[in-house]
Amino acid sequence: MRLKNKIAIITGSRRGIGFGIAEEMAKEGANIVISDIDQKECENATKKLTKKYKIKTLAVKCDVSNKNEVDNLIQQTIKKFKRIDILVNNAGIVRFGSLLKKTETDWDATIDVNLKSVFLCTKAAAPYMIKQKSGKIISLASIAGFVGFDNISDYCASKGAIVTMTKEMALELAQYNINVNAIAPGIIKTKMTAGMLANKKQKAGLLAQTPLGRVGKPADIGKAAVYLASEDANFVTGHTLVVDGGWLSR
Ligand SMILES: NC(=O)c1ccc[n+]([C@@H]2O[C@H](COP(=O)([O-])OP(=O)(O)OC[C@H]3O[C@@H](n4cnc5c(N)ncnc54)[C@H](O)[C@@H]3O)[C@@H](O)[C@H]2O)c1
Repeated sequence: MRLKNKIAIITGSRRGIGFGIAEEMAKEGANIVISDIDQKECENATKKLTKKYKIKTLAVKCDVSNKNEVDNLIQQTIKKFKRIDILVNNAGIVRFGSLLKKTETDWDATIDVNLKSVFLCTKAAAPYMIKQKSGKIISLASIAGFVGFDNISDYCASKGAIVTMTKEMALELAQYNINVNAIAPGIIKTKMTAGMLANKKQKAGLLAQTPLGRVGKPADIGKAAVYLASEDANFVTGHTLVVDGGWLSR
């Protein structure tokens, strides 16, 4: 039980990697705040966790690109649990389209949901961690934050920025005993990658780039997040942990 009684907020956690992180943290004894754009689905996710792991949970609808909703997420968490030990900035979107066809609306949506959200959520949660003199903040970057991927210029930009912003936030928050790290997943089986993985040729191409020869599972990322959120990572900060089956080693 490496996270016994810790309070963890995970954004975008009704499904996919976010839910995988929530589940791995619940296994380690953390109480979980599920937040996403649909209240009913947040509640469905919390029900699964409460039933299986006998932990305390909270479901809060929150569009992470909206400051008022982010502030409400933090307020609801404090009202129920009185503290925030772990914040996982997980919510994210991808919109495929070549640079020449991509619209300003696409660009703004991706940057707002993937990157501005990290600013909004961290800024809202950090004052409580500062008061506690402890906290762990983890953001979801991507291998697309290190190398270019066709047709997702806005996504690559948002994820690359998370890698550098993580380093900066680690510097600013170290004095308060707050660790700030990121995880850069490779190809993980979720709704985000479902289209690519349904295409046999595309899937074979992705697997050929992955030395470990398989697609990742949300739990692979969940276990990395548990490590970064635990006392085992107390001396780790400003780091992006790549969990990609070897993709970036090529
Ligand atoms: N799946 C992969 O291969 C992969 C690889 C690298 C990085 N990532 C990153 O991991 C994170 C999770 O992705 P996933 O694969 O689980 O995708 P997913 O689409 O299954 O889950 C993303 C979740 O974010 C939520 N979300 C979308 N917009 C939101 C908003 N405005 N406010 C709050 N929640 C919002 C969605 O409703 C969804 O539940 C993302 O940041 C993604 O960029 C995924």
